[in-house]
Amino acid sequence: MILKVRKHGDPVLRVRALPVKKITKEMLTLADNMLETMYAVDGVGLAANQVGIPVQVVVIDVGEGPIILFNPRIVHHDDEETVGREGCLSVPGLTGEVARWERITVEGMTDNGLSYGKLEAEGLLARALQHEIDHLGGILFIDKATNITKEQAEDEV
Ligand code: NI
Repeated sequence: MILKVRKHGDPVLRVRALPVKKITKEMLTLADNMLETMYAVDGVGLAANQVGIPVQVVVIDVGEGPIILFNPRIVHHDDEETVGREGCLSVPGLTGEVARWERITVEGMTDNGLSYGKLEAEGLLARALQHEIDHLGGILFIDKATNITKEQAEDEV
């Protein structure tokens, strides 16, 4: 089921999402619907806040297959930062340059309820994870971006 993506100005985008205590059928359905919604609009990532449900769920696909993470958190990062252009499905028509860590390690739960262990990511996947984890804290890329311009993002995350 395709869900309605909330746009900048909707207060739910500024809420700190609550942790998921248990991976219920409801949570799995939410994640599946988020993936379907993300693919329908050619996004590479979506956080549950963006569909109006402030719980800690993110979905990502940077072209390497779908990733569903519950309660994701960054547990390690290198010092190296990379500046890259980002957009957001909740902030249509704008992109901006955002500095992100190039390499991160994320922990969280997968859709089978097990610990993900450590997910090591770099480049676009690391950027997408940081963008989506920011969403769970009520943070949008425009809070961090420089050189914001009006244009359609090529890779909206
Ligand atoms: Ni976004």
